[in-house]
Amino acid sequence: MRIPVVAGNWKMFTTASEAVALVRSLKALVRDAAGVEIAVCPPSVNLIPAAEELRDSAIRLGGQNMHWEDEGAFTGEVSAKMLKEAGCHFVIVGHSERRQYFGETDETVNRKVRKAFSAGLAPILCVGETLQERESGRTEAVVKTQLEGGLKGFMADELKTLVVAYEPVWAIGTGKTATPEQAQDVHHFIRTWFEKTFGPAAADGLRIQYGGSVKPDNAKVLMSQPDIDGALVGGASLKADGFAAIIRAAVS
Ligand code: 13P
Repeated sequence: MRIPVVAGNWKMFTTASEAVALVRSLKALVRDAAGVEIAVCPPSVNLIPAAEELRDSAIRLGGQNMHWEDEGAFTGEVSAKMLKEAGCHFVIVGHSERRQYFGETDETVNRKVRKAFSAGLAPILCVGETLQERESGRTEAVVKTQLEGGLKGFMADELKTLVVAYEPVWAIGTGKTATPEQAQDVHHFIRTWFEKTFGPAAADGLRIQYGGSVKPDNAKVLMSQPDIDGALVGGASLKADGFAAIIRAAVS
C-alpha cells in the first residue's frame, strides 16, 4: 500500500509574505487530511519563513533544486545541507525546466540524487519527454535513459525514500494534461523498469507522481490509475483552495 504524495512546486512564484500567507491558508484547509503526504516547495529564500509557519503542521517542505557539492564557490547555488537545515524533507531534482534552461544533465542529476540521500533528503526525481519525442515514438526510450542516468550506481536499499515524478514536458504549464491512459502507460513502464533494475519490493514501494497541468477537476481520475501515486503540481498549487482540492482527490 503506497501512501500518495502530493507536492506543490511553486517555481519562481511568491515573495516571502505571499509564501507565508499561502502556507497558512493551506494548513487550515488540509488540517484533517489523512492518508496522503503533502509537501510544498517554495523558492529557496522562502523556505525558512514557510518552515516557521508549518511548525505545527504535517505539511512537509521541499527544495526545488540543489547543488551536488557540500559547499564551495558556486555563486547562486544552495546545498543539500542548507535545505535540510531550513527544514526540507524533499528536494526536486532534474525538473525539466532545470534540464531545459539551466543545462542539467542526467549526470548532474545523478550527483544531486546521491547528495540528497546522503544529506537525508528525499529526492523527487523528475523525468519526462518533449512533444517531439512523444510524437516520434521515443517516450519510453527517453524516460528509460533519464532513469538509468539519474539512478546510476545505486542499490535498491538506498532508494527507499525516492519519489519519481513523471512530467511530460508538453503538459507542463500548457493546460494540456496527459490522458489518464497515457500517464498510466508511462507510470507502468517506470515501475516495470524499476522492478527489472532494483527488484519487485523496491518497485512495489516506489511512489510515482504525475505532473503536468494537474488541476482540481482532473486530479482524481489521474490519481486513481493503479500506478499513479500522487501529483507534482505547478500552477494549481499557488491557490490554497485548488491545491487542497487536489490533495483531497488523492485520498478518495
Ligand atoms: P503545471 O502544473 O503548472 O503544469 O506544472 C507542472 C510542474 O512542472 C510541476 O513540477
